[in-house]
Amino acid sequence: MADTAVRTTTALLAVEDVAVHFGGVKAVDGISLEMHQGNIYGVLGPNGSGKSTLLGAMTRLTPLTRGRFLLDGVDYTKVPARKVHRMGISRTFQTVRLLDDRSVRDNILLGQDTLPKQTRKAAAMQVDEVMERVGVREVAQLRPDELSYGMQRRVEFARAIIGRPRLLLLDEPTAGMNTAERKEIGKLMRQLCDEGITQFIVEHDVEMMVDTCDYLFAMNVGKLIAEGDPHDVVRHPAVQEAYLGKGAASGA
Ligand SMILES: Nc1ncnc2c1ncn2[C@@H]1O[C@H](COP(=O)(O)OP(=O)(O)OP(=O)(O)O)[C@@H](O)[C@H]1O
Ligand SMILES: [Mg+2]
Repeated sequence: MADTAVRTTTALLAVEDVAVHFGGVKAVDGISLEMHQGNIYGVLGPNGSGKSTLLGAMTRLTPLTRGRFLLDGVDYTKVPARKVHRMGISRTFQTVRLLDDRSVRDNILLGQDTLPKQTRKAAAMQVDEVMERVGVREVAQLRPDELSYGMQRRVEFARAIIGRPRLLLLDEPTAGMNTAERKEIGKLMRQLCDEGITQFIVEHDVEMMVDTCDYLFAMNVGKLIAEGDPHDVVRHPAVQEAYLGKGAASGA
């Protein structure tokens, strides 16, 4: 873990005291964190702890109650979501958002309209390679509703990486996949990381998160309760209590 070494440089993404309240619900309640280039970050937390809301806020799709975001030191808090995509932040959604009247191939290329022309051209040239890597090339001409849920998740993954983002935000990308498929996605994430794509992943599969991530954050009721080395975070008493349930420490 190169964490202490990279902290001297400007963070790729800095989250400063971010809060998102929905009426009385403090979905995200004062989160500050940093992500540095070349790492895979993970977020653990029970249902409703604010993980997806934080991810939505990072893309500037979700309005903030307070706080700010900096990408490479540049404050983008007031930048609209489409432009945030252009700045190099891409995401997948927790629920599949694909167009069932278009082919898999078209779905992967859609959404690139917010990117600069050169990037769009490069994306069109790379689509076959990306489909191959993500394992959807054989189904390129099918419609998403003809695919299993796990395959639909792969299509979303392909769509998120084709523009070669600097930061990739993944909201439960392996839901509906078996252990072997999860391992495959974990491997792909590591390759992408080595190619310069920093990642931030939300998943409930603790084992996969420990295997895949360089650094973990743990959330509970809108707040960060622990962060650091994945093995340490899953053993942290507050995480054990909030997420894994008391007594789950044995074997963790
Ligand atoms: N648009 C919204 N309007 C009102 N409340 C919301 C909205 N989005 C999320 N919430 C609430 O904010 C809290 C955090 O939700 P969020 O979806 O961020 O949790 P999560 O950690 O992603 O959960 P899960 O693991 O189930 O996906 C929940 O109480 C949820 O009901
Ligand atoms: Mg969620």
